[in-house]
Amino acid sequence: CCIVLLPVLLHSGRCTCQNLLPSYTVLCAKTGLLFVPPNIDRQTAELRLMDNFITTLRHRDFANMTSLIHLTLSRNTISQIRPYTFADLQDLHALHLDANRLTVLDDSHFQGLVNLRHLILANNQLHSISEGAFQDFLETLEDLDLSYNNLVEIPWDTIALLVSVNTLSLDHNLIESVPEGIFSNLHKLARLDMTSNKLKKIPPDPLFLRIPVYAKMKGSPLTALVLSFGGNPLHCNCELVWLRRLTREDDLETCASPKDLAGKYFWTIREEEFVCEPPMITRHTSKMFVMEGQEVSLRCKSIGDPEPSTHWVSPDGKLIGNTSRTICYENGSLDILKASDSGKFTCIASNAAGEATAPVELVVNPSPHFDPKLDPDPGWEGFSPVLLLSLLQSSSKEMHGS
Ligand SMILES: *[C@@H]1O[C@H](CO)[C@@H](O)[C@H](O)[C@H]1NC(C)=O
Ligand SMILES: *[C@@H]1O[C@H](CO)[C@@H](O)[C@H](O)[C@H]1NC(C)=O
Ligand SMILES: *[C@@H]1O[C@H](CO)[C@@H](O)[C@H](O)[C@H]1NC(C)=O
Repeated sequence: CCIVLLPVLLHSGRCTCQNLLPSYTVLCAKTGLLFVPPNIDRQTAELRLMDNFITTLRHRDFANMTSLIHLTLSRNTISQIRPYTFADLQDLHALHLDANRLTVLDDSHFQGLVNLRHLILANNQLHSISEGAFQDFLETLEDLDLSYNNLVEIPWDTIALLVSVNTLSLDHNLIESVPEGIFSNLHKLARLDMTSNKLKKIPPDPLFLRIPVYAKMKGSPLTALVLSFGGNPLHCNCELVWLRRLTREDDLETCASPKDLAGKYFWTIREEEFVCEPPMITRHTSKMFVMEGQEVSLRCKSIGDPEPSTHWVSPDGKLIGNTSRTICYENGSLDILKASDSGKFTCIASNAAGEATAPVELVVNPSPHFDPKLDPDPGWEGFSPVLLLSLLQSSSKEMHGS
């Protein structure tokens, strides 16, 4: 039944590929291959090259294999896939690249795989995947396995477009956050595994409303969504109450924080213990004097759980963003690069539990003499006297309230 296709002599001296007729299957597993053999029949439908020592995949390796449906390259040492390697494989349904040494996937790597359904990339060293990497099979992909990699970032906007996906394995990575609503169009999703990542919170998603929700367990009905996210350092505050309300006591999660809930099983904590702290502004500039045209920094520091975000409203009631004249920092500070008008700014700190505001007054002193181009005294290490004066003023007049 077996035809010896290739007596490729390598260091092991015992490599053979077997052509198993009539199914057009070529089997070259555990044959000590260092590269994809060049004379594989181009009509092959199934090609198994697992357990070898292949390091690089090139376009010529699979050129013209338009009938190939199943390609297995598991457990090699592949660290490089040249651009357009799979460009001719328009019928390929399954690509197994697990247990290799891939680190980065970009837009060109999987180009041409317009019928791909199963993409298995588990057990590599992936740390970066471009948003366009799965472009050619967004609508056909049913099974995506990215587990056991080093991913901090996932191309979420791409994931959101995988309309046929049934199984999504993202477990054992370093994922820190999941955007809200990212799974809302994945109506066929039946298994989502996010076990052992760095998630502190899980945003509500229409996906989770597909009741009943079962954790990974034996005997769960196939029709139900299987959702696993154990082994994440969950921060159990009010943002996770929605999850606590789902009845799924089969799953044993523990909380990592806040302190008094650390180490407790998620499902044993009462709903009212998942609390948030509304923001409190602890320090802010209350009144600041500045010369016209000078830079000034207004401060507003707040605490709360979850960490509040800070916004600034201008004296004329507009939300201030990053512009050529203003910078809003994450720590609450607002830099005004060229002060022009006096007025009352408002700092707003907000989080899931509420908001707090503080008034901040800016007094801009007109300076008819100031013109950096006509600096009358360029001594003073390049500072004009006016600038120096305003710097002294800002540091001495800045006051803090509480
Ligand atoms: C693929 O097909 C083209 C055109 O028929 C041919 O020129 C080329 O040599 C083939 N490549 C391989 C690797 O078979
Ligand atoms: C504004 O720019 C700063 C500094 O570049 C950045 O840290 C901050 O996140 C930006 N803020 C917004 C709201 O984009
Ligand atoms: C806030 O961050 C900015 C940019 O990192 C920094 O220049 C500024 O001093 C910080 N402000 C405070 C109050 O820490």
